Amino acid sequence: MKKLSFSLALASLAFAGPALALDGAKLYLEKTCVACHGKEGKKPLTPEYPKLAGQNAKYAQKQMLDIKSGARANGNSAAMKGVMHLVSDEEIAALADYLSKLK
Ligand code: HEC
Repeated sequence: MKKLSFSLALASLAFAGPALALDGAKLYLEKTCVACHGKEGKKPLTPEYPKLAGQNAKYAQKQMLDIKSGARANGNSAAMKGVMHLVSDEEIAALADYLSKLK
């Protein structure tokens, strides 16, 4: 049994990467995301804001990085850019992972 849990721990370290160390669900609440995108990314503040639950992690991560850097400045992204200084690239990865796993 001991051996099994050790290899499971190793496996999760190998596959989950940096996202594992950070709690995406907690970040989502702490970094104000919930205010605009709603509980679990399902109830955006206005119909012009996107739902995030179940979005591909890679895509969501890229969009967040682009909004943060200013590479994406279309639509209402300016609203979100204002809070992106609150999150590091590692936190963005954890948030993307969390959002992709929401049903
Ligand atoms: C002040 C409101 C606001 C806050 C706070 C906010 N966002 Fe956004 N977010 C938006 C808006 C508006 C868009 C869509 C921009 C557009 O119209 O192109 C967006 C877009 C996104 C997208 C891309 C969606 C897509 O389908 O392309 C992701 C992912 C995202 N937000 C995640 C987050 C996360 C995670 C946080 C917390 C760190 C956050 N947002 C905080 C308003 C906000």
